[in-house]
Amino acid sequence: MAFNKIWCTVALGLLLPFSYAHTDFFTSIGHMTDLINTEKDLVVSLKDYIKAEESKLEQIKKWAEKLDQLTDTATKDPEGFLGHPVNAFKLMKRLNTEWGELESLVLKDMSDGFISNMTIQRQFFPNDEDQTGAAKALLRLQDTYNLDTDTLSRGNLPGVKHKSFLTAEDCFELGKIAYTEADYYHTELWMEQALKQLDEGEVSSADKVYILDYLSYAVYQQGDLSKAMMLTKRLLELDPEHQRANGNMKYFEYIMAKEKEANKSSTGSEDQMEKETEVKKKDYLPERRKYEMLCRGEGLKMTPRRQKRLFCRYYDGNRNPRYILGPVKQEDEWDKPRIVRFLDIISDEEIETVKELAKPRLSRATVHDPETGKLTTAHYRVSKSAWLSGYESPVVSRINTRIQDLTGLDVSTAEELQVANYGVGGQYEPHFDFGRKDEPDAFKELGTGNRIATWLFYMSDVSAGGATVFPEVGASVWPKKGTAVFWYNLFPSGEGDYSTRHAACPVLVGNKWVSNKWLHERGQEFRRPCTLSELE
Ligand code: OGA
Ligand code: FE2
Repeated sequence: MAFNKIWCTVALGLLLPFSYAHTDFFTSIGHMTDLINTEKDLVVSLKDYIKAEESKLEQIKKWAEKLDQLTDTATKDPEGFLGHPVNAFKLMKRLNTEWGELESLVLKDMSDGFISNMTIQRQFFPNDEDQTGAAKALLRLQDTYNLDTDTLSRGNLPGVKHKSFLTAEDCFELGKIAYTEADYYHTELWMEQALKQLDEGEVSSADKVYILDYLSYAVYQQGDLSKAMMLTKRLLELDPEHQRANGNMKYFEYIMAKEKEANKSSTGSEDQMEKETEVKKKDYLPERRKYEMLCRGEGLKMTPRRQKRLFCRYYDGNRNPRYILGPVKQEDEWDKPRIVRFLDIISDEEIETVKELAKPRLSRATVHDPETGKLTTAHYRVSKSAWLSGYESPVVSRINTRIQDLTGLDVSTAEELQVANYGVGGQYEPHFDFGRKDEPDAFKELGTGNRIATWLFYMSDVSAGGATVFPEVGASVWPKKGTAVFWYNLFPSGEGDYSTRHAACPVLVGNKWVSNKWLHERGQEFRRPCTLSELE
């Protein structure tokens, strides 16, 4: 089912290469860097406003001081003071015009520039959806990379350049977002963290009563009645009149009493059964768990015997004239399915060009909702992508030729070059690149057959996370700027190779740029002839 969804997307993504979705800032660092610049502009504008306001206040102060002295002298001897004709004239002038001018100055609005800047920029600000998206990305990373809440809150992540920590209020906010998603597991973790930071003396506007209210509910939802009671007690110590907490307390006591009653009459056999299912749960490793382990680099290791058969070599594209004199470095990453990596295969300049071409067109990768039939975004594919045609730039065309030369496959039937950018938390959960038999033929309109192979360029290093993993076989391929990996999705018979199921792990720290080329069956008939055996 899930695969169906992914599959359609790929197809629709192909047919509508330039469709624009809502900006979804959090899905890509490319767009978020624009926001940093916007913020920088706003700070400059805010500082200008402060300067203007300060100079205005300075003028007002000077006036007040001058008048203070003057009125001091004048009130001491009003008649003597006004006996001087100049003083009499000046008093008239002051009251008739100068105080009026001062009034105008006091009323003058210095905030114009800043406010109009704000109004313009606000149109491009992220919205609630972006904030929730960024929060959910944090929670996803926490799970995938087994990060302890405290570690994440203190910002102790591997490879970070700019350390950043979460305040108690931030933690509370994350907990609330988890709560609105009915994700009580993360609600508990983050409310507890908020409470912990407050207990340690952090100065904050976050309110312990509110936190305890959410926390006790989340704990109750997860079935820990006695802990929920303990937390509610703590809340009532801070706010004895709290209505809901008082009500909950009574309810908890009632349930506890009922449970005790039930326990007395229950037998031990149920416990035994519970234990057995627990054991079963542990034995069975669902794909999700395998995927997360591989993302953390805890993958199943290949046996030394198999590993010994992985080589690296200079490769000339099967005596391709363009590579005979300057062969490229090629490394075996995995044996079955065979995954090879090409080193120094795309230059930094080429990468920059590809990124610049793609940037203005990046839009959130979408999937096809099988129920509504509409394109939507999905948590299992969080990235931004764009398609580049060989016609639009000699660099793209050169890259296409390179892929053709080195794979020996015809690129004229391939899809356009897809460029993808994953921001922090960006990922693509396990999927196949090829279309399966039991599905409607997604590539029918192309008339070029199934996706025979995948070529994937890594166009950036990733500080932490972001591996490409193959959960069926236990392979993790780590991004390395300037390299590319290649594998066949289909056996020579045309049958799909299910061991090629793969995923892009969430980026933990940094930013991941890749580009890929999906090669199709048509045109390869003589380049990669069919065999008689199906799965060979
Ligand atoms: C894809 C894909 C892997 C990666 O886009 O189909 O599998 O590491 N990408 O980005
Ligand atoms: Fe893929």
